[in-house]
Amino acid sequence: MEWQKKFEVGHNKIDMEHRVFFELVKSIAAAEAQGESRDKIRRLIAETAKYAEFHFLSEENIMIDVGYPEFEEHREHHQSLMRNMQKYVVSFESGDSNIHDLVGFLVDWFVKHTTTEDLLLSKYIKQA
Ligand SMILES: [Fe+2]
Repeated sequence: MEWQKKFEVGHNKIDMEHRVFFELVKSIAAAEAQGESRDKIRRLIAETAKYAEFHFLSEENIMIDVGYPEFEEHREHHQSLMRNMQKYVVSFESGDSNIHDLVGFLVDWFVKHTTTEDLLLSKYIKQA
């Protein structure tokens, strides 16, 4: 689970926030690997979810400022992530899924979203 060049979209603020988000997801996996308590893992998940929420708002504000035509569609992707993340958290809490499922979901989503939707946004900003 290492940061890769392909995750970068070429927009300083977005890339910086993506790195923080990626580090938070890594910290969840690391805590689990090190046998940290459920409470510790729960707190890291809460921090990651809050950061995702903050970052989405940050990106959405950029989209509004530049008059991004795909704003609604992009925001729907963000809302979908938050809903699905919540489902994984509930499932983890009830013991139906483990932390690998949640981390795997977050990483897959992050890679797909940054290399498609966020890259398109960054390209739009540059040519605007
Ligand atoms: Fe995004």
